[in-house]
Amino acid sequence: MSAGINPDKATGITPENSRRSFIRNIAIAGASVGAGLISQSVHATSKKECSSGIATNSRRKLGELEVSPVGLGCMSMSSSSYNPPRSAKSMVPVIRGAIDRGVTFFDTAEVYGPFTNEEIVGQALQGVRDKVVLASKFGFKFENGQRAGRDARPAVIRTAVEGMLKRLQTDRIDLLYLHRVDPNVPIEDIAGTVGELIKEGKARHFGLSEVSPTTLRKAHAEYPVTAVQSEYSIMERSVENQVLNTCQDLGVGFVPWGSVVRGFLADKFNEYSRFSDDSRFASVPYYTPEAIRNNLVMLDLIRRWSDERGITPAQFSIAWLLAQHPFIVPIPGTTKLHHLDEDLGAVKVKFSSQELTAFRAEIEKLNLVGFRAKDSALTDK
Ligand SMILES: NC(=O)c1ccc[n+]([C@@H]2O[C@H](COP(=O)([O-])OP(=O)(O)OC[C@H]3O[C@@H](n4cnc5c(N)ncnc54)[C@H](OP(=O)(O)O)[C@@H]3O)[C@@H](O)[C@H]2O)c1
Repeated sequence: MSAGINPDKATGITPENSRRSFIRNIAIAGASVGAGLISQSVHATSKKECSSGIATNSRRKLGELEVSPVGLGCMSMSSSSYNPPRSAKSMVPVIRGAIDRGVTFFDTAEVYGPFTNEEIVGQALQGVRDKVVLASKFGFKFENGQRAGRDARPAVIRTAVEGMLKRLQTDRIDLLYLHRVDPNVPIEDIAGTVGELIKEGKARHFGLSEVSPTTLRKAHAEYPVTAVQSEYSIMERSVENQVLNTCQDLGVGFVPWGSVVRGFLADKFNEYSRFSDDSRFASVPYYTPEAIRNNLVMLDLIRRWSDERGITPAQFSIAWLLAQHPFIVPIPGTTKLHHLDEDLGAVKVKFSSQELTAFRAEIEKLNLVGFRAKDSALTDK
């Protein structure tokens, strides 16, 4: 089975997908008669209303950088993390389709592929480059075309950025992230190097990924950070331990990856899902058979809440992130336009503060397996 995923519901319409679409469509159609549990829900009265894209006046700010409230994570378009690498021919229309739907924020990285993801994104953005905010990441070294550890020395960053600009077919990267902290290079040196690249016009904003609050503060003191990108979802909430507060204090935006828990909250897996040893999923602690079985209780809870308002669990999960702070911009990853349509439906979903409090009380009662310890947020990954 591709990328070790069994069953791989990612590769096309399966009975499960059809069942889910059917339920979603019925649920959306029935939203106007939903029960009163969620008092301020958006009344999505048709599938079209939930999938017509993002209004052009709907924007969020990451620091000073204005973007659509939901971006597109492009990683799985070429890396073999969740599915076999897709061709540029099949993925360029997905990126172009996202732009047509009002998405202006695109996320890639040197290490995705490696390199091929940036090529696909660069190809897709030809002719529309100025309409979007393009984010990419550096911080690894490569041997024989494969990732071979971390390396964020200033000279390496400069070489990496030259390669990125070529592959992305652009003259600047709007948001240039350090992908992972390099323990051998002081964060101030990295911030300083990115600051120089910004002065030279090769980048516009500085970002960090999976950093502790301490590292964020140190970097920000050297050169202002625009956004932090780390894993955050209804299930993986460790960044609520000081990372989000630090972003808020410093005026730094937050970009959660894994907003649908790599497909789990998009109803992509079930208790029978299994992954081969060479699959990326096999090394993710919340994708062991035991963890999946245990954690389905969260999907059931979210399904109950989302059914009430006629939306899908994926939409609920992304909307919940949007509701946590105005400086949060999720970047769900997908290789399919119909999944993107579904994910973008989250933008129209609103929660009252009572709903958020009630939902949080419910999730905090659940004992999830495989997620990070709260204190892990205090160290760099
Ligand atoms: N900074 C970092 O260290 C880091 C780490 C990982 C990822 N990222 C970035 O964050 C982005 C998002 O994270 P992620 O991809 O790991 O996790 P994610 O967004 O939680 O999950 C992506 C997976 O969910 C599936 N999916 C999305 N919407 C769906 C829907 N409506 N219905 C069914 N399946 C759906 C996708 O499959 P389909 O393709 O079948 O839709 C894909 O396999 C990545 O693309 C990447 O750009 C950053």
